[in-house]
Amino acid sequence: MSTEIILDCDTGIDDSLALLHLLQHPDAELVAVLSTAGNVGVEAVTRNNLSWLEFCGRSDIGVHVGASGPLVAPLRTCEDTHGDHGVGYAQLPSPTTAPRDEDAADAWCRLTRERPGELVGLVIGPLTSLAMAIRRDPGLPQRLRRLVVMGGSFDHPGNTTPLAEWNVAVDPEAAHEVFTAFGVDGAPQPIICALNLTEQVALTPEHLSRLGELADGPLVRHLNDALRFYFEFHQAQGEGYLAHVHDAFAAAVALDPSIVTTTPAVVDVELNGTLTRGAMVADRRGFWGRPPNALIADTTDVPRFLDELVRSLATLAGRHLRPTGTARRPQN
Ligand code: BDR
Ligand code: CA
Repeated sequence: MSTEIILDCDTGIDDSLALLHLLQHPDAELVAVLSTAGNVGVEAVTRNNLSWLEFCGRSDIGVHVGASGPLVAPLRTCEDTHGDHGVGYAQLPSPTTAPRDEDAADAWCRLTRERPGELVGLVIGPLTSLAMAIRRDPGLPQRLRRLVVMGGSFDHPGNTTPLAEWNVAVDPEAAHEVFTAFGVDGAPQPIICALNLTEQVALTPEHLSRLGELADGPLVRHLNDALRFYFEFHQAQGEGYLAHVHDAFAAAVALDPSIVTTTPAVVDVELNGTLTRGAMVADRRGFWGRPPNALIADTTDVPRFLDELVRSLATLAGRHLRPTGTARRPQN
């Protein structure tokens, strides 16, 4: 049975990998792609989403423009992490298609009304558009089958402030509203893929070499150009010449939650701390007297996921797979 997914993203290099992985996965049906400002502005996010879909021959999937900035805070973007246009050094062809007229929040509301209990929500950017949708339609959380969020950092440093992770740090109020609305009154407990796990998921040049052995062509070239930028960013941060592919991993969890172990927890977002605003907090000892409202992803088989991701991208690149270790046949 295929998993029907609404993808809400701020594309973004690792968002791009998430989108591509879902596009090719035989078990995934991408119902809509929603653009939210974050890594880059919402126009660039939308352009990237349209470009990737068109590039992959999937312009039938609707792109909906979402929030152009957080609920309360001013927008911040991170071109140092993802490049001026959000896809590193890659130069994607300009899209010839346009986004749908319906905005992202309305798309969240309508799609979950049309298919109650069927859709999986995957949010891999700031949670602004989803929070706006819940404001418009408070019954929305109960109509989702599952929600997977890439965000937060539990018992682990942040990547935006000492304690805060980017997606939550950009719009803490939206994250607070979403995590308050889910995990109660019959709404599913979101599965949170936070930095404590996603920073273990490191794509390396070896993985790209493997991709190059399996496939070539323009998609592989774009991925090399995007990931080279992401490798350089991580190296500049002192993390090595590698890339944490947070969002692609969250996409795999959305498709198959059994690839992670999880712990139920009460989670919330710090909104006021002068040093800690945007940090996610887990109450693991019941201090707040509230029932668990989320599942924190704890462990996974990292090599297995990365292998699957490389194979997935190679499949999408349109070349047949060769068994591991088999040399390429020379081209005539
Ligand atoms: C998250 O921040 C963004 O830069 C990435 O796309 C990912 O969603 C990781 O903290
Ligand atoms: Ca993202």
